[in-house]
Amino acid sequence: MARSATVFSCSACGHESPKWHGRCPGCGEWNSFVEEARPAPTARVGANGVKRSAGRALKPVPLAEVQAPAVARLCTGIGEFDRVLGGGLVPGSLVLIGGSPGIGKSTLTSGALGNLAGAGHEVLYVSGEESAAQVKLRAERLGGHALSVPIVAETDLEAVLATLETEKPDVCVVDSVQVLYDPALTGAPGSVGQVREVAGRIMRVAKELGIATMLVGHVTKEGSLAGPRVLEHLVDCVLSFEGERERTYRTLRALKNRFGSTNEVGVFEMADQGLVEVEDASERFVTEATRAPGSVVLCAMEGSRPLLVEVQALVAPSELVPPRRVANGVDRNRLALVLAVLARHGGVSLGTSDVFVSVAGGVRVDEPGADLAIALALASAAKGIEPAADKPLAAFGELGLTGELRHVAHADRRLTEAAKFGLDAVVRPGDGVRTLRQALRGAARAHAA
Ligand code: TYD
Ligand code: MG
Repeated sequence: MARSATVFSCSACGHESPKWHGRCPGCGEWNSFVEEARPAPTARVGANGVKRSAGRALKPVPLAEVQAPAVARLCTGIGEFDRVLGGGLVPGSLVLIGGSPGIGKSTLTSGALGNLAGAGHEVLYVSGEESAAQVKLRAERLGGHALSVPIVAETDLEAVLATLETEKPDVCVVDSVQVLYDPALTGAPGSVGQVREVAGRIMRVAKELGIATMLVGHVTKEGSLAGPRVLEHLVDCVLSFEGERERTYRTLRALKNRFGSTNEVGVFEMADQGLVEVEDASERFVTEATRAPGSVVLCAMEGSRPLLVEVQALVAPSELVPPRRVANGVDRNRLALVLAVLARHGGVSLGTSDVFVSVAGGVRVDEPGADLAIALALASAAKGIEPAADKPLAAFGELGLTGELRHVAHADRRLTEAAKFGLDAVVRPGDGVRTLRQALRGAARAHAA
């Protein structure tokens, strides 16, 4: 009997079997079997029966002698995108762009390819999800050079690879990696085995021919399930496109980047003509800040860029035990910590109230420097103090468990950004303000001034 070209192996213990099992006979794990292409036998057996490698020995080279020509990056023409990539696409690199459906991955990549085509680069758009006509409709909305991008609508991996080998574009987009399938594997498109095989083979072709490739991948709500998570180790760069579909603001951040920092964040807005870069996000958030009780402007850092965002809090009497704690854009545990410190060290006890905290505009802040702004917003919401000044209150700083205020990185840049928008009185850890109590008093003074 001919051996089948694929083998199923357990991703937990490595047990191999010619057919799929729901439960691994080796280790008893459920749902761990993944289909893989059967590797060709490579080992040869030496005289004494010991297996020897069939490969040829290589000569190690000291790193100092390795030739590394400086490569010019390919600019996508979308400033925020280029910045997150670390200054543009590196030729021959593999970039994974993950995000939930409808967030704007196809819009972003179509726009980038259009700009690259306009700059004279060879590009190719492989669409597995949408027909060529659908992609054309989007390109018409985007305008610019988007209509000059060549497209193939195909889901068969072999056909896509053959096209890449013939066309040899400089940049290629595969939208999405979950719908492509390798006919040699029996698994459904999007299964772990298929996604890994598809990405692995595209990577080999792309690296060999020097094609910068952007793989689009969907992330499920849990961020896993045969999703692009299995590819993270394989690609050079993992970008995550986040935001809520109902909100206009979207953020693009790098989770992994072999050619740049993972601190950069790009802010976009979805408009009628595609994604618009929001270069001065701070200005919008500050002018939109309500100046009402419960509103505080946080001087946050998004990577190397200061960003002013509005933190809003609402405190209302609760009929529930335990009362509600709802956090949007900030971590729930962080909110719990701030509430506890406020109760214990700030004299603001909210144990019988529902508490809602939200960062305006659908932005997410994940830094400890947000603590003080959350605490001040909660205190002002609880006490209902109307600010007398016409400017919103601004703050940043980390809260310690003993009620002390801790310094956070880039204080000077946060202050400069705040000053740019006329926010001179920023409550922060510093001279005279070392504890939460002092900060609360400082905030009350700023309000009264
Ligand atoms: P899309 O890029 O197709 O999302 P993804 O590829 O991540 O699934 O588009 C996302 C949404 O954006 C879609 O619902 C329609 C909307 N949109 C606009 O509002 N304006 C536009 O110009 C375009 C192209 C799309
Ligand atoms: Mg899409």
